[in-house]
Amino acid sequence: MTDQAQLHGVLARLRDLGVTLLSLRAATDPDDGRAHGSAVAPVLPRPVRTDRLVLRPATPGDADATFAYRRLESVGQWLTELPTDLASYRATFVDPTRLAATVVVERDGRTVGDLMLRVEDAWAQQEVADRATGRQAELGWVLDPACTGHGYATEAVRALLRVSFHDLGVRRVVATCFLDNVASWRLMERVGMRREAHAVRESLHRSGRWLDTVTYALLAEDHQA
Ligand SMILES: CC(C)(COP(=O)(O)OP(=O)(O)OC[C@H]1O[C@@H](n2cnc3c(N)ncnc32)[C@H](O)[C@@H]1OP(=O)(O)O)[C@@H](O)C(=O)NCCC(=O)NCCS
Repeated sequence: MTDQAQLHGVLARLRDLGVTLLSLRAATDPDDGRAHGSAVAPVLPRPVRTDRLVLRPATPGDADATFAYRRLESVGQWLTELPTDLASYRATFVDPTRLAATVVVERDGRTVGDLMLRVEDAWAQQEVADRATGRQAELGWVLDPACTGHGYATEAVRALLRVSFHDLGVRRVVATCFLDNVASWRLMERVGMRREAHAVRESLHRSGRWLDTVTYALLAEDHQA
């Protein structure tokens, strides 16, 4: 029963695509070593450069640029949230845990998209739970539709996979999308992720339809190979 409840919790979190509600990396006070609930350390502490892009931690000032494409039906149709009001979007965007898990992608100084990288605990039995803490990460992504078709998402996701495995020490990275979101799962396959699960009519879309979802993952050893 406990296992079932935990599994439901994991599945619920995996469904939270495109909206970063949680970050498990609480900021720690260097003096007392205790975590502080209100401040959350960014998952990406400093900018990362790739051939064409800069990936940097999100700031409150990124709300407007990300709203510009996230409010579009063609984008929001795949995401938990389809924001319509800039003021309330700004308020949720600056939630500390969401902000800490958000990475902004820029090309020549222009915002082309945003990614989510959320470190979490892998499921484990009680006796070994400490060894599963922070060993898994979940990725999510959104590009401005004006910037799709150039491989920017592939380039940015590859960079965050490197960060996940090399800097954050996670052993498994997961991502989930609706089966109908072909562009998203093709991206997962381009970066080498493996389809691990296909859940049938398990998520309710705002259209009223129950949709299939697919979950992909990559292990550190796959990444190294
Ligand atoms: C999912 C999403 C990020 C994918 O965007 P994308 O542009 O298809 O992905 P990439 O940026 O990696 O670009 C790949 C495309 O560019 C092409 N491309 C051009 N140059 C490339 C390069 N240097 N490297 C890789 N691909 C390149 C590829 O051939 C591919 O095109 P194709 O799909 O016609 O074959 C985008 O569709 C999106 O933001 N969707 C809405 C939000 C969403 O669904 N988020 C996920 C929720 S689960």
